[in-house]
Amino acid sequence: MLSARGHEVFIADRFDPASADASHLVLYLENEESIRTVLQTVKPDCIIHLAAQSSVAQSWKTPESTLEVNIIGSVRLLQVAAQLTPECRFVFIGSGEEYGVDCSEERPFTEESVCRPHNPYAVSKFAAGQMLELLALRYSMRFVHLRPFNHFGPFQREGFVVADFCAQVARAEAGSGSRGPDGEWTIRVGNLEAKRDFLFVDDVMKAYCLMAEAEQYPHPVYNISTGTVHPVRYILDYLVSQAKVGIRVEIDPAKFRPVEVPALIASNELIYKDFGWRPETSLEDGLLKNLNWWRENVR
Ligand code: GDD
Repeated sequence: MLSARGHEVFIADRFDPASADASHLVLYLENEESIRTVLQTVKPDCIIHLAAQSSVAQSWKTPESTLEVNIIGSVRLLQVAAQLTPECRFVFIGSGEEYGVDCSEERPFTEESVCRPHNPYAVSKFAAGQMLELLALRYSMRFVHLRPFNHFGPFQREGFVVADFCAQVARAEAGSGSRGPDGEWTIRVGNLEAKRDFLFVDDVMKAYCLMAEAEQYPHPVYNISTGTVHPVRYILDYLVSQAKVGIRVEIDPAKFRPVEVPALIASNELIYKDFGWRPETSLEDGLLKNLNWWRENVR
């Protein structure tokens, strides 16, 4: 999307050096030297910092490394950027999870809401955001902290709810799914009562593009959300209704979180007021696009 708008885009990730090329660069947030090399090569006008251990479920299994990568790694990145490319804008991708519990459809989170992060991943994003904002102030860097809510789309790996459901439906349709004792295709799911504010990835990307192109940020934090909420059960029912084969649903207690955030929903009024951004893809259209992607890419 950024390339189509005329920008030169580099992706820095934990690539295998053999698969790296001029626009795909190897970077480890744990390794300051690799950060230096990338920033010296690219000399960015803007960093969109998405690199993280981004799974809430995983963060309960490996809290230390989640905090290490997401907080310390982010601080390391901004410190090196402040030394080498201080003019560069820094767009930090936090999370709607930072707010924690205590919202409802009647009282969605706003950027003014108090954050009470409720899992190790949420703590890591909240703490990183606080530290980066402080450091950006110290080094006079242009900085903005975004809080996207749950989003999904092609290429998202399994481990996140929409990808988990679509992959299982697509495997059942392809004849390679799991079967129950009665031979029926079966998909395993976790807590269906949790409610989330779901976005399709294209809409989230549009918001990131606007932020990358902005000269100034009138506010330090922006939510990226729809302002509407759906139970996970709604996603499941919709995908099962689109399936070309009969599907049985099995609740798997192993997929439940030790501590669950019952609902996450946020207002997008601030980003609309300052940047004119609002999501455009309906949940059902996004889900169908995603299911079709899995149908073509399932292994
Ligand atoms: N992953 C997964 N798999 N989650 C399930 C499943 C399942 O089979 N069944 C039910 N769930 C429930 C989870 O318990 C949770 O309440 C909800 O579905 C969403 O889970 P995830 O998709 O794993 O996302 P998350 O809400 O924990 O975090 C995501 O959204 C954040 C923004 O709100 C991640 O994408 C984070 O990186 C992101 O910051």
